[in-house]
Amino acid sequence: MFEVGFLGGGNMARALAGGLAKKMPPEKIHVIDRHPEKLEKLAADFGVTVHEALGEWVTKLDLIVLAVKPQGMKAALEPVVSLLNPKGAALSIAAGIEAQVLRGWLGGYPVMRAMPNTPAMVGCGTTGFWAPADISSDAVAQAKTVLAAAGDVVEMDDEAGIDLVGAIPGSGPAYVFRFMEALERAGTRRGLSPEAAKALALGTVYGAAVLARESGEPFSRLRENVTSKGGTTAKALEVMNARDIDEMMDEAVEAALKRTAEMKALFR
Ligand SMILES: NC(=O)c1ccc[n+]([C@@H]2O[C@H](COP(=O)([O-])OP(=O)(O)OC[C@H]3O[C@@H](n4cnc5c(N)ncnc54)[C@H](OP(=O)(O)O)[C@@H]3O)[C@@H](O)[C@H]2O)c1
Repeated sequence: MFEVGFLGGGNMARALAGGLAKKMPPEKIHVIDRHPEKLEKLAADFGVTVHEALGEWVTKLDLIVLAVKPQGMKAALEPVVSLLNPKGAALSIAAGIEAQVLRGWLGGYPVMRAMPNTPAMVGCGTTGFWAPADISSDAVAQAKTVLAAAGDVVEMDDEAGIDLVGAIPGSGPAYVFRFMEALERAGTRRGLSPEAAKALALGTVYGAAVLARESGEPFSRLRENVTSKGGTTAKALEVMNARDIDEMMDEAVEAALKRTAEMKALFR
């Protein structure tokens, strides 16, 4: 079994390390963070090995997961470079820093990229993963094992796919929450209590997602199944189509991608 270390013990590292601790010996999972209270909680909750400082332990890692915020990444990597295991590889989960840039900061060390999303915190993540062609198959398998501990992993053909993952499942929970807020408000405006409106909106999205997953049917077929000709659902959908929901989602994703490109340019 491999040794994995997380540089940064924040929300995302917690989601991944917590899931992984159920699948491999937790003492083989290392986490470093500058907040001792986060480390204490990680050790108490999952039994992982925690570190307040870099040291010889880093040299034994097969995989190092780069899990600090993008703006702090370069500074965090500087003291790590001389400690890296020459037989290992890195996996970055940071948004907007290209593999080539990270590789440069790490003195040529091989770097894979992944983009998880916040449902990873409850084991329901959707993560995009990409590995350059020169990464060993062992490193790829280890990275996928780590990511799969928090949900589904979808492999991308190229690094640009990671940007799309950021704009669709990465930001996507916020799009869905925004829709839920609107559905909730439509209920409270018509006299539902806030509790009832919230429960109905949540149940709608949860039930629809589970039904879609379990049936495997195309979304369009599922929608048609709920929509009788001339019925109430058809009338509601007419309103949504008149506002061109496809165009709106397309523009939203495009705006997220544009912002990603701006952020990437800052790190080049
Ligand atoms: N959260 C998400 O939805 C999400 C989704 C996809 C990707 N990501 C990516 O995942 C990465 C981590 O995100 P997060 O939300 O988990 O961030 P976070 O909660 O801020 O966790 C990062 C942790 O690392 C610590 N840290 C920073 N530099 C350090 C250093 N040099 N040595 C030791 N500890 C250090 C931070 O301390 P300080 O707070 O003091 O800096 C913080 O405790 C980011 O790059 C983000 O882009 C996040």
